[in-house]
Amino acid sequence: MSGEFYKVWGSGMIAVTVALAIGIGINELTHSEHHAENAYKVDVPEGGAPTAVVAEKKLIEPITPLLASADLAAGEKYFKRCATCHSLEKGAPNKIGPNLYNIVGNQVGIASGFAYSDALKAMGGQWGFGQLNAFLTKPKDLVPGTKMNFVGIKKAQDRANLIAFLRQRADSPLPIPGQ
Ligand code: HEC
Repeated sequence: MSGEFYKVWGSGMIAVTVALAIGIGINELTHSEHHAENAYKVDVPEGGAPTAVVAEKKLIEPITPLLASADLAAGEKYFKRCATCHSLEKGAPNKIGPNLYNIVGNQVGIASGFAYSDALKAMGGQWGFGQLNAFLTKPKDLVPGTKMNFVGIKKAQDRANLIAFLRQRADSPLPIPGQ
């Protein structure tokens, strides 16, 4: 009985880090399998699940501490995934996406001859390190309605490597913060 209880409680704890949907699933399971008293105890750790999951989803790990020691060769390699849609050489034509020469520190949405989405045009501002970090983490979170069809880059180190590589492809590279 108590072994079963801890088993269910343990799955509840995993659910906190996995997904809200799974959390709710297990919660319902425990309700149907246990007495009201046990179900109440099980609910305690799971009660935190919705907040924890939402917080995790919105959290974007900063890359500034990683930029100075970023691996440029790894960044160049990663860019191959972007190269399907983006050219990077100065003056190269736009592809499915705009040319990205000079992108780090540049104005948002100004590649000549590229038809940007209304969502990206409405964003305005500049592609500083923070904006690029957020955009590349999950483009559709930062710019809902963007036509960049790319799921995003999970690892902060991968984003740092890539952005440090892109930074060099400019007439005068944007200084790295704190350098
Ligand atoms: C499937 C094609 C595709 C892939 C893959 C892709 N992009 Fe894009 N990207 C686009 C499109 C299309 C836009 C224009 C978005 C809009 O107008 O909403 C864009 C826009 C951008 C912008 C904004 C440019 C500007 O001028 O403001 C940046 C920065 C960018 N992409 C970087 C990247 C990087 C870095 C990668 C690789 C990790 C990547 N993209 C992968 C299609 C793609």
